[in-house]
Amino acid sequence: MTKDKKLRLGVMLHGAGGNMAAWRYKNAPADASVNFSFYKQLAQKAEAAKLDLVFVADGLYINEKSIPHFLNRFEPLTILSALASVTSHIGLVGTLSTSYSEPFTVARQFASLDRISDGRAGWNVVTSPLEGSAKNYSKLEHPSHQLRYKIADEYLEVTNGLWDSWEEDAFIRDKKTGVFFNRDKMHTLNHQGEFFSVEGPLNISRSKQGQPVIFQAGSSEPGKDLAAKWADAVFTGHDNIEQAKEYYHDVKKRAVSFGRSPDEILIFPGISPIIGRTNEEAEKKYLEIASLVTVEDSLNYLGRFFDHFDFSQFPLDELFPDIGEIGKNSFRSTTDRIKKMAKEEQLTLRQVAIRVTTPKTTFIGTPEKVTDLLQQWFKEGAADGFMLGNAVLPDGLNDFIHYVLPLLQERGLFRSEYENDTLRGNLGIPVPKNRYSKELYFNK
Ligand SMILES: Cc1cc2nc3c(=O)[nH]c(=O)nc-3n(C[C@H](O)[C@H](O)[C@H](O)COP(=O)(O)O)c2cc1C
Repeated sequence: MTKDKKLRLGVMLHGAGGNMAAWRYKNAPADASVNFSFYKQLAQKAEAAKLDLVFVADGLYINEKSIPHFLNRFEPLTILSALASVTSHIGLVGTLSTSYSEPFTVARQFASLDRISDGRAGWNVVTSPLEGSAKNYSKLEHPSHQLRYKIADEYLEVTNGLWDSWEEDAFIRDKKTGVFFNRDKMHTLNHQGEFFSVEGPLNISRSKQGQPVIFQAGSSEPGKDLAAKWADAVFTGHDNIEQAKEYYHDVKKRAVSFGRSPDEILIFPGISPIIGRTNEEAEKKYLEIASLVTVEDSLNYLGRFFDHFDFSQFPLDELFPDIGEIGKNSFRSTTDRIKKMAKEEQLTLRQVAIRVTTPKTTFIGTPEKVTDLLQQWFKEGAADGFMLGNAVLPDGLNDFIHYVLPLLQERGLFRSEYENDTLRGNLGIPVPKNRYSKELYFNK
């Protein structure tokens, strides 16, 4: 890592926030998840603060037990396209599943967002954990965890190939001669694989940043391999710095084994800081946010990770039940972590549900304390940046911008001006060379 390298910061746009009952929070609009002016206000605020990106997560199956935000929310690429026209520098990263879409369509959609935003698009590649998704996509069953990652690998080979369909100077558009494009600079992919058969070329050309930034979220073994092979950045979650460091080094080492530089892949742990002028004030804010959630909410929230498993059938104050393999084909890395924690600490069902639903973040306290922690994670090789989850919005983001950002800037850890106007430029990651071009073009 170079000495003056800056911390990267993204903010999740997820309605009223990451808390299960965030919509009930006093300062949040209850309809935040479908309130465009609220999204616009947050994105513009994040841009004024020079954050790297806004991030929109997604899912493809709901039922009555889903998190309220999931019941009625914007589709990621649609909201990001709208935000592209009311922002100018901030990155726009959206989640889209490789298990329930076609690579040609998705390559086209993200390339379009990349051109609409003039080089600020990013794709968070997920394989979809929820088994019910199959029922919404005319499939007999949800592909297995292993198969989903196999599909994702070939999928990214196809999308990357399609994004090279046109060399940067392919379009001549000479009105006098009538020559619109150079046929030699148009390339057909002709992909024939196990899961996809795609001829190409793609019907849209590269943007100023070459191609959308690839994020990946999924922390199991095959998830880490997928990230190491294809991703520019990884969204992950850790309970403590030791786990985060181990993950960080593991993914960077895997990237090197794929012939990449460890600096080409940025690791973003998700955090939800709670900041108070004093530690007591921060503690009070946490309790206020945590108290919005009922026990029933927390059982539903926990159950969703285990494919909407019904935990209400077990006694709340007995040890976390042994539920065998349930959850293995869903959020595997998360369910493994929950089961391990319950066993090691001998927790009851109630304790697990509350801890998972309203986790007490390490990043809680005064601005100095939170800044110290961010600095420590960054300097000690646990993170290249952070994804701000914010339990409640807009307060979580306002507090971070108002109290922590100036300290990060004072310590030389965060920018005060954008270095570039593309997402790749601001993240400091390379523009991928078009495989057919003799030279690398910038800013065309
Ligand atoms: C930090 C993190 C964020 C994720 N975000 C999403 C998301 O927004 N949408 C989604 O469908 N899956 C999301 N996933 C799920 C993964 O894409 C994946 O389907 C699931 O976790 C199983 O993979 P894993 O066992 O490799 O973690 C996320 C996973 C992690 C760890």
